Amino acid sequence: MTQIKNIGVFTSGGDAPGMNAAIRAVVRAAMYYGIEVTGIRRGYDGMGKGEFVPMNRKSVSNIIQRGGTILKTARCDNFRTPEGRKNAYEQLVKNKVDALVAIGGDGTFTGAKVFGSEYDIPVVGLPGTIDNDLVGTDFTIGYDTAINTVVDAVDKIRDTAESHDRLFIVEVMGRDSGLIALRTGIATGAEAILIPESKTGLEGLFNRLEFGRKDKTSRIVIVAEGDDTAGGAFEVGRLVQEKFPNYDTRISILGHIQRGGAPSCMDRVLASRVGAAAVEALRDGHRNEMIGLINGEIAYTPFEHAIKHHQGIDPNMIKLVEMLSM
Ligand code: F6P
Repeated sequence: MTQIKNIGVFTSGGDAPGMNAAIRAVVRAAMYYGIEVTGIRRGYDGMGKGEFVPMNRKSVSNIIQRGGTILKTARCDNFRTPEGRKNAYEQLVKNKVDALVAIGGDGTFTGAKVFGSEYDIPVVGLPGTIDNDLVGTDFTIGYDTAINTVVDAVDKIRDTAESHDRLFIVEVMGRDSGLIALRTGIATGAEAILIPESKTGLEGLFNRLEFGRKDKTSRIVIVAEGDDTAGGAFEVGRLVQEKFPNYDTRISILGHIQRGGAPSCMDRVLASRVGAAAVEALRDGHRNEMIGLINGEIAYTPFEHAIKHHQGIDPNMIKLVEMLSM
């Protein structure tokens, strides 16, 4: 067992619903084991600037249900430099922080991996991103809430699409992953999905519009923001309008609403489980690993593997969209 006295916890990169539940779990589990916790505000940026706050049981009361992150978050260029990381390490030493829990996505873990190799401080990570694009966990914290937000929004778009007999191109987030588009496409009965992992989306959509059922009164196409077959929802919309002027086409970019809102039950439970497991992992001597959940079991994945992008897309799921939207 490793003797850890003070865990620093921080959130970094894009926020995700459930990050607060993860912070709460880290703080409460650490207290349970008699370990102090220091909150680091604004991710790596705040670490370098010494934005440290002592945390206790009370500081995480009433946050499990809140979206965003009470510790705030940032994307930090300075931490990419050796000088930036040196500053950060000096701040940790000064504040007697002897282990870290980093909550974020691939950028966060890329930083953690380099930091952990340069300085003798154990760092473990929790998967916090709506994109679900990490290896080593079935789902990331925030993904479930985000896809439910998308489904709710697209259901509303469907109402107006149906009233006006329109075709909507809806763009969802995910950076270079199509996992948000894939699941929400199935759940909203989309006509087609366009995702970076499949290059046949545009062609499939055109075929469908040309040769498919003509009695449909509304159509929804989900485009992942990272899809480059056409260059985003506006370009897809332009091409559709050009080729099929009879379709009354509209574009909707859902944007940052996908990152907000109260975390779903699934995200709260996931965050609570991996948050507590992160503290136990540090006590057991783990370092440079992301703590995820695979088939309901806690899983430890080295940072360099976790950031190798998502688990891949099941072609059967893509087929499902086509098969069921006939
Ligand atoms: O990684 C989460 C995410 O929401 C991506 O889906 C999106 O590409 C990106 O962050 C947007 O980042 P920002 O809020 O910095 O514009």
